[in-house]
Amino acid sequence: MKHEVIEKNIGLMIILIVVAISFGGLVEITPLFFSKQTTEPVAGLTPLKALELEGRDIYIREGCNVCHSQMIRPFRSETERYGHYSVAGEFVYDHPFLWGSKRTGPDLARVGKRYSDEWHRVHLNNPRDVVPESNMPAFPWLNKNMIDGTLTGKKMEALRMVGVPYTDNDIAGAEAAVKDHTEMDAVVAYLQQLGILIQYKR
Ligand code: HEC
Repeated sequence: MKHEVIEKNIGLMIILIVVAISFGGLVEITPLFFSKQTTEPVAGLTPLKALELEGRDIYIREGCNVCHSQMIRPFRSETERYGHYSVAGEFVYDHPFLWGSKRTGPDLARVGKRYSDEWHRVHLNNPRDVVPESNMPAFPWLNKNMIDGTLTGKKMEALRMVGVPYTDNDIAGAEAAVKDHTEMDAVVAYLQQLGILIQYKR
């Protein structure tokens, strides 16, 4: 029996098991790279503007994504609270994506336009000023640090290489667009555009 050879040779068996399991994975994953639903941007999606892009980098630097997910699951308990569930086409320009799964704070996938800019400024400076029971850390230095725009254009160029459709004009104007802005301006600009393309009609 040929099967006996495999059963008596654990090394060979391990290799064949890995091959068999990989096939299962590939069958699930490969179609996603070609399916329109997962690779095409939703209507109206544009790359982040220069200031929003810098805001996203600060969001990552400060570890906001460690406490906040950006992915609303298609369950009633989630959609009642956060809005329309997230769809893949909203994230095609996100590199790296910030979906996450750990929620110390609420999901932020559709936080855009939910609060005023001023609310965010007060909240980020000291969350307890607007949410007394909050255990979110304060980020007062965002008000003081200015954005250094010397690399903003370069970041856009790098993103363009992986398929984000920045134009030459976007890149040329990037440094000027973030000049004289604080890190707070950038983070708030980033937050205010999160998830606003898809909203339930109320
Ligand atoms: C240690 C965990 C933690 C970190 C890090 C953190 N947050 Fe929070 N965040 C929370 C918690 C808890 C709440 C809920 C209480 C509140 O509103 O302050 C919250 C609330 C929020 C809200 C309000 C959401 C809503 O729907 O009401 C926003 C916006 C927000 N955080 C943004 C940020 C940003 C931006 C950063 C990074 C600069 C950040 N958070 C970092 C824990 C965190």
